[in-house]
Amino acid sequence: MAPSSPIQYRMMRYPDGAGLNGVWKRTMDPVPVLAEGDVRLRMSHISVDPGMRGWITPKRSYMPPVKPGEVMRAFGVGEVVESRAEGIAAGDWMTGFTGVQSEAALSARSLRRIDTRFASPRDYLSGLGMTGYTAYFGLLDVGQPARGETVVVSAAAGAVGSIVAQIARIRGCTVVGIAGGERKRRFLLDDLKVHEALDYRASPIAEQLAVAAPNGIDVYFDNVGGETLDAALGLINRHGRIVVCGGISQYGDMDAVRGPSNYLQLIAQSARMQGFTMRDYIDRIPEAFMALAQWRASGEILFREHVVRGIERFPEAFDMLFSGANEGKLLIEV
Ligand SMILES: NC(=O)c1ccc[n+]([C@@H]2O[C@H](COP(=O)([O-])OP(=O)(O)OC[C@H]3O[C@@H](n4cnc5c(N)ncnc54)[C@H](OP(=O)(O)O)[C@@H]3O)[C@@H](O)[C@H]2O)c1
Repeated sequence: MAPSSPIQYRMMRYPDGAGLNGVWKRTMDPVPVLAEGDVRLRMSHISVDPGMRGWITPKRSYMPPVKPGEVMRAFGVGEVVESRAEGIAAGDWMTGFTGVQSEAALSARSLRRIDTRFASPRDYLSGLGMTGYTAYFGLLDVGQPARGETVVVSAAAGAVGSIVAQIARIRGCTVVGIAGGERKRRFLLDDLKVHEALDYRASPIAEQLAVAAPNGIDVYFDNVGGETLDAALGLINRHGRIVVCGGISQYGDMDAVRGPSNYLQLIAQSARMQGFTMRDYIDRIPEAFMALAQWRASGEILFREHVVRGIERFPEAFDMLFSGANEGKLLIEV
């Protein structure tokens, strides 16, 4: 059987008021010939992240936007099928910014080799990859939760949120998770073992939070922004910490992002609100990796993954993040 042609998803124009129409284009271009130092990867899994929405917004950010016509930026994991890089051989596995494509020719120096005897390739995009590290450093370093404190997490059934909720529980905090829908609420209670789980779609979140966190909030890990952030600010305790990890409720229109109207509570409570990205913690990745791997091995933490099969479903998978159709880390199995 002839090998199938490579598939790429390219970003053709920046989204505007018309949404994502015409943003993605599927191409079937041949993989470039390898230069010295390059490897060719056959992709196994591609990570689908809300951060991609920022990467296709031409605004100042922590990395330059994808340019129209380029293969869409994405984390991925794949097997080396050809190598012109010293020390890397066919059969090795690598991860990094591989793009939304079924095969990739990249400089080996831009990638990291992974050990697939230790964990499955997709783990390196999920709990043992950037998702896990973001949860680990965002909660523990930025949020600094102490035993007995109340930690509230939004998008708690998602990739980062589900790990944050579990680390907070392991650290002896009272954990309140917020997610959309009864199914996700049950997942938070039954599988992640949080203390309280709220469905923000069921009734006003400020009212629900006031009941679920009667002693106020010490750490709010924010993945969504908007109304939920305002509700958490309204209950923040003295010297409380708000970790600004993401604001997905605002990503639909990046030109009209709504800021928090309740921010004066930060003054009243001498509270702190701080953003971060993983860029701040690159040197400490081994620490997060070891901690997450140990918690997983001891059964204290689970990595929930939502796998969509087929790279052709990339546009649909991307939309799932915004409709809330994913439970856990959203991945494409190529
Ligand atoms: N700072 C960093 O370095 C960093 C790194 C990774 C991710 N992030 C951010 O962290 C957040 C979570 O990312 P993730 O990869 O873990 O994604 P995720 O939580 O697995 O997926 C996104 C979830 O957001 C929720 N959502 C979508 N629209 C919403 C809205 N309008 N209001 C409230 N919730 C909404 C949905 O869950 P429901 O069904 O519960 O609504 C959806 O499942 C994102 O904001 C992302 O940008 C930041």
